Amino acid sequence: MKVLVVGKSGREDALVWKIGQSPLVKEIYCAPGSDWISQRPKTKCLPIEAGDVKALADFAEEESIGLTVVGPEASLVAGGGIVDVFTARGLEIVGPTMAAAQLEASKVFAKEFMKRHNIPTADFECFDDPRRAETDAIANLPCVVKADGLAAGKGVMLCRSENDVRIAIRRIMIDKEFGEAGNRVVVEDLLVGEEVTFMVLTDGWEVIPLLSTQDHKAVYDGDEGPNTGGMGAYAPALVITPELEKIIIEEVIKPTLAGMRKEGRLYKGILYVGVMVTPDGPKVLEFNVRFGDPELQPLVLLMENDIVPFLQGIARGELQEGSIQWSEGAAVCVVMASKFYPGTPETGKEIRGLEEVAAMENVVVFHAGTIKEGGIWKTSGGRVLGVTAKASGIPEAISLAYEAVAKISWDGEHHRTDIALKALKRGIQLEMKRR
Ligand code: AMP
Ligand code: GLY
Repeated sequence: MKVLVVGKSGREDALVWKIGQSPLVKEIYCAPGSDWISQRPKTKCLPIEAGDVKALADFAEEESIGLTVVGPEASLVAGGGIVDVFTARGLEIVGPTMAAAQLEASKVFAKEFMKRHNIPTADFECFDDPRRAETDAIANLPCVVKADGLAAGKGVMLCRSENDVRIAIRRIMIDKEFGEAGNRVVVEDLLVGEEVTFMVLTDGWEVIPLLSTQDHKAVYDGDEGPNTGGMGAYAPALVITPELEKIIIEEVIKPTLAGMRKEGRLYKGILYVGVMVTPDGPKVLEFNVRFGDPELQPLVLLMENDIVPFLQGIARGELQEGSIQWSEGAAVCVVMASKFYPGTPETGKEIRGLEEVAAMENVVVFHAGTIKEGGIWKTSGGRVLGVTAKASGIPEAISLAYEAVAKISWDGEHHRTDIALKALKRGIQLEMKRR
């Protein structure tokens, strides 16, 4: 079978790496992919952008692509929705329709949906008038102001003072830093607790959970500084106990899928729930309608099954009940980023040390923003590499990942040095409790 992967970042490199291991797959095309992705086994990249839905569908038809997997959320709502267009042309594709993708594309939709279906989330109000939004936010400090639409994870501002609120409202609603995405805002209570990523595969009815993971959104160690797309992730995240997983499935996942069916928006694909584990139980911070990035990177290293039959099950609406086999141990992904990221990154810097790391066992480097020029690998984006390691436990995976990170360098490179340390602290607590 031929598979098409849409996207070009670390998540899509991880998908191509994993899908390439399937005996069912003869060829993989990645659009647009990258120089790095094009050298993965069985893989070719195409000069078609991820948002050019018509060109992608034409290609899939001409090449008899058996399965298409969509990485980025933007493609799900571009050009009438890639899933809507592919499905209308009889092409198998993994992901939600444009109507179902509103769970991520509109925070106002997601919050009102959760209210309608009694799904636990922070209390909130929605506004299209900046003055009203500002007054409400100031009256409810501390709070969080969120742009309604897609903003690459950067349209969410935690406010602890009146000044924070004024800045947030100005940036989102007046200066329109995120364009139309800032026409409306959600103002919600600030939740306190530990944040975790819970993803499931679903065909709208059946649910197969993935291992829980934890992302690190802030740019600096200790969760300081502005939010990014994610500076690193690890799995499994021990904060999700088996009991908590049951609660999330019963109180969040099942009501969400049932609510979407009831509202005529059957949800098929990967459902990503950003959960805050609070003293009052788990609450939904956000829904995403695709695999998390970087969260997918440690997950593919631990997944023992062939991923392709699961993806086909989703696309065909025939996901079989069952579970995924995960390797013992843990995996950790450290994101290496360019100078100034999450602001405008400095690019074009030569990357050193990749060959040395390629020789390391149980380490895979996923490329999110690189380009090959004159035989030399250079940086071409904000998040550049996801250096991912698998080992017998979290401490061992942390050591191995950072051993690899230490071998790679470029001018202005930065990364967090505390990825997965929270898990380590929790592990020590559990150990002490057992004693
Ligand atoms: P979102 O895109 O809605 O997940 O927001 C991005 C990040 O902002 C989340 O991953 C959290 O770290 C933080 N955040 C969002 N909503 C809240 C909230 N209600 N309370 C505390 N932190 C939040
Ligand atoms: N890592 C956060 C996300 O994929 O949205």
